[in-house]
Amino acid sequence: MHAEKFRMAAGYSPDGRHSLTYTLVQNVHVRVGMVHTRAPSAFVDAPVRRLRTPRGAGYRSRMASASHDAMPLTEVAVYRRTVRAAVASVWENVRDWEHLPWLHRTTFRAVDLLAESRDGWRARVALQPGGADDEAVIDLRIDRAASRYVARTAEGAGRGTEIWTDLAPLAGGRTSVTVRFLVPGVAPDRAARIGRGYVALYTRLWDEDEGMMARREELLGAAAGGDAAPAPDVAELGRRAAVRARLPLLVEVGGRAYRLVEIDGALVAHATVCPHMLGPLAEAPLEDGCVRCPWHGYRFDARTGRSADGRRLRLPPAPRVDVDPATSDVRLTFG
Ligand code: FES
Ligand SMILES: [Fe+2]
Repeated sequence: MHAEKFRMAAGYSPDGRHSLTYTLVQNVHVRVGMVHTRAPSAFVDAPVRRLRTPRGAGYRSRMASASHDAMPLTEVAVYRRTVRAAVASVWENVRDWEHLPWLHRTTFRAVDLLAESRDGWRARVALQPGGADDEAVIDLRIDRAASRYVARTAEGAGRGTEIWTDLAPLAGGRTSVTVRFLVPGVAPDRAARIGRGYVALYTRLWDEDEGMMARREELLGAAAGGDAAPAPDVAELGRRAAVRARLPLLVEVGGRAYRLVEIDGALVAHATVCPHMLGPLAEAPLEDGCVRCPWHGYRFDARTGRSADGRRLRLPPAPRVDVDPATSDVRLTFG
């Protein structure tokens, strides 16, 4: 049975998208599109062993806990890139399991945290395109001293697969990233093709992460520089009909951006920066009067700014929108 699982894992790439994992986990209920957290398990207490770079053919995992997990791994590819983000941002991103089904929505469709500590996390993930066979448990272990982390498939097809990532800070707030993909049970004539699938997948994931990290750094830098101008008391936007014709309308006042939308016939302005980790709300979908952040999926009521899913967060203040009953001029009022 295990041999069959490993063959499936190694060979699965109907569309050239060999995934992190393809699973045969049974009796697992993953709530699609939802994020759940659970109390940490024993995993969090396990000391992190020094993660030494795997070398040579037939490398055997140091992370494996069961004997059948200790089968030889084949390095099918190495992916190298430089990202436009400081290494501190990359570490923040590595610890951030919650963004998987949101920022990486084309790869993951759900995540369920099983355990978390400063040394890593363990989570059950469901992969696109869906179906009961697309679930797996991932252990991510961090070795900060070695500037390295390893994501290992603990359950599911592809069980035993290890993805080793080395980080190195570069000048100019950039980071060098080297990713090694180690897959169990790979026939030599399939390694290159599987490797290409991993590289394509990781190119996309790192593109998405880089965009998130770069935006976050930019906003954090602007906030630290205190370069926002004081907002005026009011801002005139013109006639209602003209404003409505341009909805959703982005306006920038005093260095801050707001989005004007119409909810139940009323014009509403909301902030475009998410209070969680500064995610972009300017183009976030509007559902039942709420905006949903594309980075972690948190929802906020656009009218009140309050959390719509029980978080202790609220949107930054936004101006009130008034329409003059005599002239139908639209005015933003601050403060
Ligand atoms: S940045 Fe995390 S939900 Fe918006
Ligand atoms: Fe990511």
